[in-house]
Amino acid sequence: MPHHQLIVVGGGLAGLRAAVEAKASGLDVAVLSQVHPGRSHSSAAQGGINAALANHPDAHDDTPEKHAFDTVKGSDYLADQDTAIQMTKDAPGVIFEMDHWGCPFSRFDDGRIAQRPFGGAGYPRTCYGADKTGHYLLHTLVERAYERQVKMYIEVFVTSLIVDEGRCRGVVAYDMINGGFHAFTADAVVMATGGAGRIYGNSTNAIISTGAGAAMAYHAGVPAEDMEFIQFHPTGLLTTHILMSEACRGEGGYLVNGEGERFMARYAPKAMELAPRDITARSITTEIIEGRGINGEDYVHLDLRHLGAEKILERLPGIRDIAIHFEGVDPIEEPIPIRPVQHYTMGGIDTDVDGRTRLPGFYAAGECACVSVHGANRLGGNSLLETIVFGRRAGMAVVADLEGGSAGGGDVSAAGSAAVSAMEARVAELASRGADGADPYAIRAEMIATTRDYFGVFREESVMRTGLETLRRLKERCGGIGLRNAAGVFNLDLMRTLELEGMVDLALCVAEGALARTESRGSHSRTDFPARDDERWLVHTLAYYTPEGPRLEHAPVTLGTFEPQERKY
Ligand code: FUM
Repeated sequence: MPHHQLIVVGGGLAGLRAAVEAKASGLDVAVLSQVHPGRSHSSAAQGGINAALANHPDAHDDTPEKHAFDTVKGSDYLADQDTAIQMTKDAPGVIFEMDHWGCPFSRFDDGRIAQRPFGGAGYPRTCYGADKTGHYLLHTLVERAYERQVKMYIEVFVTSLIVDEGRCRGVVAYDMINGGFHAFTADAVVMATGGAGRIYGNSTNAIISTGAGAAMAYHAGVPAEDMEFIQFHPTGLLTTHILMSEACRGEGGYLVNGEGERFMARYAPKAMELAPRDITARSITTEIIEGRGINGEDYVHLDLRHLGAEKILERLPGIRDIAIHFEGVDPIEEPIPIRPVQHYTMGGIDTDVDGRTRLPGFYAAGECACVSVHGANRLGGNSLLETIVFGRRAGMAVVADLEGGSAGGGDVSAAGSAAVSAMEARVAELASRGADGADPYAIRAEMIATTRDYFGVFREESVMRTGLETLRRLKERCGGIGLRNAAGVFNLDLMRTLELEGMVDLALCVAEGALARTESRGSHSRTDFPARDDERWLVHTLAYYTPEGPRLEHAPVTLGTFEPQERKY
């Protein structure tokens, strides 16, 4: 049974940054990932990473405090202000560190790291590498992790936590290459598995972004925080939902409706196309609902033509390639058809500012966590930042806690073996039902259509109640799922079947949280409660697992110097 001091689940930016940090302090660290780390979803992040470097000519007086203010205002005041201040304070340091580690950021002519404008930001502070920023950052950290000799277990699929005497002592994982389930025991576990975008049917996320880490934590008793806040990116490609980066608008792209209008003038007359994502996604959706989509259909245009070929080829080459290959449109010649699509999970595993959760020995960072820095609406460019800032902090916290003597100790092999046996029994039960059991693919298809159609950009009680009833029925059907293919090796059918119930559980957290929150805030926009209600709802939602469905509690937001005010852009 492999044992490491620290096991990190997930080989994306947050996980690798945590691993590199802990390894540098001398811990024995292993990363477990179902894909090669270089193929983690962080690689899909395009437009950039925020830090108040004040490099841009229009940003000479930018500061981390102004970045924190924009983050808190963008969050519709649901972010914990101490956390936002910590992230923006750490930001310049982590950017310089990634630069020194070899990340090929784009540069201004004077050699300083280039920065571009992004939505909801008072200054151009988004550092970038053309439109492949996530890919560049990820590969920089992959190299760093290998160079530091972090142990990599690749193509292992983690299925559950090992919890012994109230402490997380490792994970159970399916060995995709050789088959079989194994216990990987540890003194500490950092969960960094990314978001839950794939619980929606219209997501920019990779197929591995199923929320598995958040679901495992939820099942182990750690609350899922603020799950009702789902970000819809304004500009997903019409037919495939692939991300058309906010960088397109940061570089000057227009949003245009079927009447040829730059319609953002109606909704955000100052910021225009660079309003925050919640406002921009609602504006596009309103244009479509009111019949002003292109040819009256359910999309509008992202028009880059006026930027010219040279700028598009230099700053947005990946966008051009994707638009050509996946939509048959060359943005140099034609506008791109787009519409809002699910992009980011603001909620997740409830953590403190150092990634600690309520379960001793268990930490989380990145999109699977809710450190509570994005509140009700994340600003573009703050997600890459979050992964590196809070991945690093989680790594530091593990080191401090283990040095402080909180390793747990004792022989954990019995708990590991018991957890593996429980998982094998579950698989045997699923396999015994075989094709006579409920079809996991039918359940998944109905779940992702329900979240998309009933918990979208605009929400309303009667619609959500219908969606919730469907999700509850799907949850019941999960109890009778049959595994169609019981082969031992590289069994994707097994993985898709095992992860399904957790996805439905997280969808239920979104649904119950959204129904309970009788106000509009950030990405959660209710037509029946259109106003923000600070008196009653300036609180976080905490969802606790019960077999009957989530039990909700609410907890105060950490306020500070930024007084909640009406958001105008
Ligand atoms: O639009 C984008 O490039 C995405 C950035 C982000 O989600 O932070």
